[in-house]
Amino acid sequence: MKFFIDTADIAQIREAVSWGICDGVTTNPSLVAKTKKPLAQVIEEITSVVDGPISIEVTALDFEGMMSEARRIAAIKSNVVVKIPLTKAGIQATKACSDAGIKTNVTLCFSAAQARLAAKAGATYISPFIGRLDDVANEGMQIIEDITTIYGNYGFDTQVLVASVRHPIHVVQAARLGADVCTVPFDVLDKLFLHPLTDIGLAKFMEDWKKVPT
Ligand code: G3P
Repeated sequence: MKFFIDTADIAQIREAVSWGICDGVTTNPSLVAKTKKPLAQVIEEITSVVDGPISIEVTALDFEGMMSEARRIAAIKSNVVVKIPLTKAGIQATKACSDAGIKTNVTLCFSAAQARLAAKAGATYISPFIGRLDDVANEGMQIIEDITTIYGNYGFDTQVLVASVRHPIHVVQAARLGADVCTVPFDVLDKLFLHPLTDIGLAKFMEDWKKVPT
């Protein structure tokens, strides 16, 4: 399972890349707004440090508007992926992008039925929002299980990108279900390293090491 970092914050991206475990980046309009920088600057910063897939979301709501943004976004660099919301116009744009060889990440997916449409339209990635489903007392991970089963049944190439991840157990569950990618906020990525037994074990090794004669 690949790890993408779910942020538009360049300092966080640089740090995750320096750890050697960051395969790509996902952004959305809310994450870009948090940076308080223009989108062009955010894209320039991220593309200068990340070679893997970088998802940038369209903000038009109609098919024509989405397509004109998609063409502009896709032309930035070969590793830039066009993020498109799962609406009728979005699925239509996903199909047109797929026909034109433009990579897409279909976002705001909350059901296996929606994910089926994205795969049918030729999406490169589908992004089911797990945490937001948990927030409304739905089992977010259940749709990951459903989607991986359905995609497996029919041999769809669309990669399952688990999004709206809130804590390390989501990462473990996503991997257990065979998701292709998990996009993880910086604080969750950081938490994946933590285990008190690692700290205790290392402290003991260092203490004992001092007793080894030189
Ligand atoms: O990038 C989309 C997604 O990961 C958003 O997560 O935490 O805002 O539900 P969240």
